[in-house]
Amino acid sequence: CGIVAYIGHREACPIIIKGLHRLEYRGYDSAGVALLTDELTVYKKKGKVSELEGFIAAKDTKANIGMGHTRWATHGEPNDENAHPHFSTSERIAIIHNGIIENYAALKTHLQQQGHVFHSDTDTEVFVNLIEEIKKQNDCSLEEAVRLALHEVVGAYAIVVLSQDAPNQLIAARKGSPMVIGIGEGEFFIASDATPIIEYTNEVVYVNDYEIVVIRDGQLNIRSREDVNQTPYIQKLEMELDSIEKGGYEHFMLKEIFEQPRSIMDSMRGRLELEAGHLNMGGIRAYEQKFVNAQRIIIVACGTSWHAGLVAEYLIEDLARIPVEVEYASEFRYRNPIITERDIVIAISQSGETADTLAAIELAKSKGATIFGVCNVVGSSIARATDAGAYTHAGPEIGVASTKAFTAQVTVLTLLAMIMGQKRGTITDTKLRELMVELDTIPTKVEKALLLDAQIREIAVEFKDATNFLYLGRGYNFPVALEGALKLKEISYIHAEGYPAAEMKHGPIALIDENMPIVVIATRDSSYEKVVSNIQEVKARKGRIIAIVSEGDTVIPPMAEFVIEVPHTSEILMPLVSVVPLQLLSYHIAVLRGCNVDQPRNLAKSVTVE
Ligand code: G6P
Repeated sequence: CGIVAYIGHREACPIIIKGLHRLEYRGYDSAGVALLTDELTVYKKKGKVSELEGFIAAKDTKANIGMGHTRWATHGEPNDENAHPHFSTSERIAIIHNGIIENYAALKTHLQQQGHVFHSDTDTEVFVNLIEEIKKQNDCSLEEAVRLALHEVVGAYAIVVLSQDAPNQLIAARKGSPMVIGIGEGEFFIASDATPIIEYTNEVVYVNDYEIVVIRDGQLNIRSREDVNQTPYIQKLEMELDSIEKGGYEHFMLKEIFEQPRSIMDSMRGRLELEAGHLNMGGIRAYEQKFVNAQRIIIVACGTSWHAGLVAEYLIEDLARIPVEVEYASEFRYRNPIITERDIVIAISQSGETADTLAAIELAKSKGATIFGVCNVVGSSIARATDAGAYTHAGPEIGVASTKAFTAQVTVLTLLAMIMGQKRGTITDTKLRELMVELDTIPTKVEKALLLDAQIREIAVEFKDATNFLYLGRGYNFPVALEGALKLKEISYIHAEGYPAAEMKHGPIALIDENMPIVVIATRDSSYEKVVSNIQEVKARKGRIIAIVSEGDTVIPPMAEFVIEVPHTSEILMPLVSVVPLQLLSYHIAVLRGCNVDQPRNLAKSVTVE
């Protein structure tokens, strides 16, 4: 979910609505606002922020204090009642909440016994009634009631609370869900990330877990849950407004796909110094010996970031000869894993907020492992929870389906593997030099791959009505096959599976008939001949082959129905190039099917619940 709040001299509602649009990537099942004047008013609606906008257009929304929410449903289906903000029973207190309250059922029963009435299925409504009940029982201030309530809830939250009995005041708190405060001239902004804030101010404070924020009479006050005063650490935001707008593209996803030559370059900047022959990564400096002596590397991530982790497994084992395990963060954290002080855990996350990845880090930390983060969002929770790390510098990614963040992650992990190989002496100077030269050419090669756009759109027209897709690849292109299938599923709702090409004969081959599209990533590398055999196997079952091949390939074209030629590069770096046509293919298929590419159903970009 996304939260935004404002207190100051301007009209709050337009700022909140604009902010909610920026945060819509975090969920878009329903949205709502609460506005505080002499009265506390709540408007909320099922559906996207634009529905809410239409709904409030004719209403009186004048207020200088307010808050808004865009929801990704956890407790209760997306409907008007379950939308935030939620009122307490007296309707004098309202709350917005991002996160999950795990002990909500017990609290709810207790509150019902005290006479509280519930209108929704959410855990959030329990939270606000708990605050009201505590306030009544203790006859205390709202701030105190919020503080005491935080001692009773178990789970994750970023909340903002407004009350009719506390005018000119806004209270917020966080544990486990992100929250940033923007500080303007006599005005304050609160949001789940900095995007709703940057056009008004570049001074921000990232709220820490267990902190309570009170903004009253133009003053910002931060206290711990134990009621100890905290000094806010004000940081300067380095984000351009342009970077979060569409810039002439029809969708954010397309813009982000086309940004890749640039974002890959940005992720290498200062790290690959070709002329001087240097590789640098500030983040590992203090932990160099740990990396050199690591007995094992465990990579934890979810979704697309997990696919980048799989590429990294190949890279690190190849170049640095350290055993690597790649784990879904959600599995890792619950299966009593073996972790020692000599392990390094690499956590990969675009948003830096994924709840499962964050929890996996905490677990590994408690066992003494060194944690290295690869995050895109600067100042995010994961970036702050790790011992060290390297930002991907891909710029804000807004399309829910991840594209440029993936290639930036792979670039950073490639550099990391090269540096580790160099330090451990597992890669020769000549090989390292060759790789550096080749890596430097990748942005140009990705640019060439993007020229395939029109051709790929034609292929998309051919397959837009397919109900299934199979993606096959081997070696470094196996994670690319998984990523290609995930992209298609996410935004076009076509069922798709990625498989190691050779594994196909142990199951998926049964699915192949003359209607089945099969995307085979068959670029020229050490398993090329084997993939060619796999293509033969598909062809013999009359599958419809779409082959991604290296430029100039003459062997595969006669076997495939469609051929997409990508620039050739080293096997190790190929995922950075071969994934591009797959991103474009899923994009065009989704657009042709009339799907909402940037906001696919049921998904959210930043999953801050486990
Ligand atoms: C969600 C997004 C995916 C993303 C995954 C992990 O499912 O929709 O695009 O890959 O979370 O997110 P992270 O921010 O940790 O990379």
